[in-house]
Amino acid sequence: MLEQTINFKITTTQESKISKVDWENLPFGKMFSDHMLVMEYSEGGWNEPEIIPFGPISFHPATSAIHYGQSIFEGMKANKSSEGEVLIFRPDMNAKRFIESCERMCMPIIPEGLFVECVRKFVEIDRDWIPNKPGFSLYIRPFMFSTDEFVGIRPSDTYKFIIFACPVGAYYNEPVNVLIEEHYTRAAEGGVGRAKVAGNYGASLYPAKQGQLKGYHQLLWTDAKTHTFVEESGTMNIVFVINGKILSPTEENDTILRGITKRSVLEVAKVWGYEIEERKITVEEVIAAIKDGSCTEAFGAGTAATIAHINKIGFRGDDYFLPAIETREFSLKVEKFMNDLKSGISPDEFGWLVKA
Ligand code: PLP
Ligand code: COI
Repeated sequence: MLEQTINFKITTTQESKISKVDWENLPFGKMFSDHMLVMEYSEGGWNEPEIIPFGPISFHPATSAIHYGQSIFEGMKANKSSEGEVLIFRPDMNAKRFIESCERMCMPIIPEGLFVECVRKFVEIDRDWIPNKPGFSLYIRPFMFSTDEFVGIRPSDTYKFIIFACPVGAYYNEPVNVLIEEHYTRAAEGGVGRAKVAGNYGASLYPAKQGQLKGYHQLLWTDAKTHTFVEESGTMNIVFVINGKILSPTEENDTILRGITKRSVLEVAKVWGYEIEERKITVEEVIAAIKDGSCTEAFGAGTAATIAHINKIGFRGDDYFLPAIETREFSLKVEKFMNDLKSGISPDEFGWLVKA
């Protein structure tokens, strides 16, 4: 859908909070920009999107999302070039994944064009909230939840779609330590692991907390059936460099979130001539490769996490350390490439940026 066919109703804030922002200190997800976009679904269709001042929303206690979990979200980032152009990274990919999440959760879809235009218009309004510092971005959070006021199990007939944004720095501000999880499960085949469903994160909190109590930032989830294959981490996909090859778990089944950052990294690696393997990867082979030195790099890839270098992997009471960060040729190169591309320092040779 083209922008001119969408009527945005816009009410701008009378009291901008922007002068209160401490741009030197931006903890992830705590500061919210001035506006939000709200679009409602009822009687089989989406109403016109509204951009209004950011603020609380009220709920009926029987709002179905709270009870039955029809709640999905996305995450993407916008940056500004040195010329002040607003650059949004691959919102079309988020739109496509959002559609998949809608379908899996029995929610009405938002067509890709409408989703992208909502993001663009919203970012245009709050463009002053995009940080100008390297390593910082505007994190954009579109989400949708069911709003029927009803007790009983059936898909809701009404929904709310909202977009808000936070100026952010890195989600992890140090290399991460991950723990291989062999008991709890994030996602099983046939479940909702591939969708970006709120409940996936709620269900992972207890196991992740156990890992944090042992000193790890995140878990490295394994497959639900055998707990022998590496899947992904709580906020990011996982990539290894073993014997010079780029390895990442296959997304063939429906248990792993199809990450846009990881997909982009692999597309770049392919163009650079690296050999890439997306396949089932056993925990055993990763540990063996760290031990014999053939695993030279490991990192998490995600919108919030960006490229999160992995320091060590915990497994059955032992810690396996990866080589020093400064030796990691591919991770460092791809990290710089992605940062430069997103902020317009290098040309958008893949055609990934959408201007607002
Ligand atoms: N896996 C999980 C569970 C995530 O929450 C995320 C973050 O969105 C990712 C992977 C990475 O996906 P993306 O690169 O699209 O942000
Ligand atoms: C993202 O990277 O967009 C995420 O959703 C991860 C996290 C903030 C939950």
